[in-house]
Amino acid sequence: MSVIKLVNLVKEFDEKVVTNGVDLEIPKGSMVCIIGRSGEGKSVLLKQIIGLIKPTSGQVIIDGTDITGMSDLELQDIFKKFGYVFQFAALLDSLNIFENVGITLLENHISKEEALPIVKEKLAMVNLAEEVLYKYPAELSGGMRKRVGLARTLVTNPSIILYDEPTTGLDPITARIVFELMYNMQQQIHATSVIISHDVEIFKYVDFVAMLHEGKIQYFGPADTIWESDNPYIYQFIRGLSKGPIQQEITHRSGRER
Ligand SMILES: Nc1ncnc2c1ncn2[C@@H]1O[C@H](COP(=O)(O)OP(=O)(O)OP(=O)(O)O)[C@@H](O)[C@H]1O
Ligand SMILES: [Mg+2]
Repeated sequence: MSVIKLVNLVKEFDEKVVTNGVDLEIPKGSMVCIIGRSGEGKSVLLKQIIGLIKPTSGQVIIDGTDITGMSDLELQDIFKKFGYVFQFAALLDSLNIFENVGITLLENHISKEEALPIVKEKLAMVNLAEEVLYKYPAELSGGMRKRVGLARTLVTNPSIILYDEPTTGLDPITARIVFELMYNMQQQIHATSVIISHDVEIFKYVDFVAMLHEGKIQYFGPADTIWESDNPYIYQFIRGLSKGPIQQEITHRSGRER
């Protein structure tokens, strides 16, 4: 059964069409990576899945329920199923790591004593030691901050986790550690994960790859055979080739001609 089903999803901002008829089904318990060029609408697509951006037309069906026309109040129950890892870790600088990870609990009037073991458990899941609990985000490395962001997402026990570029700005080794953590987390909690990433390294960890181009899913297929795919969009994109159906920016072209 598909946990997330998108049907002919269109999103326009003023005159600009971003998603232009996206159809996508994400099987329960799978990890799916969404790739596509910068500005193609990957973040806009992810936000439509969780109801943060309302589609212009089409349907978003979560666990068999059409959420497209739901009010904000009705959406609150749907929100509880989701974890959302933002494009940048988005930690609050004035709060320590315990408060950052436990923020949802503390906001819901759960005491610090009750929150502490939950926060410790989630930090352990992302391989962070208790020593970080009372440190502040500025005292941690970029990779550690990303892991704190993952731990914060785990606190609400989500059944669907959406990641917007979880490894941007990390060196290749740290990025791999984060992917391994995401993979191990997945094995433990059996969530369904949708991950936006530009990093081809992720294909080793996910089940399926979807490619967004010109507002549509141009490819959806298994990750383990992606390097053998002859889909022209995938072939060009994952190898970073200049020739193919994906056009270069005008500025690139004029730059090269000079
Ligand atoms: N709230 C908004 N109002 C108007 N236009 C928007 C809004 N949000 C996004 N857009 C536009 O939608 C397009 C797609 O943006 P989006 O952030 O989804 O791209 P992306 O594929 O995630 O890019 P990147 O890889 O750089 O993160 C962009 O042209 C952007 O300017
Ligand atoms: Mg984005």
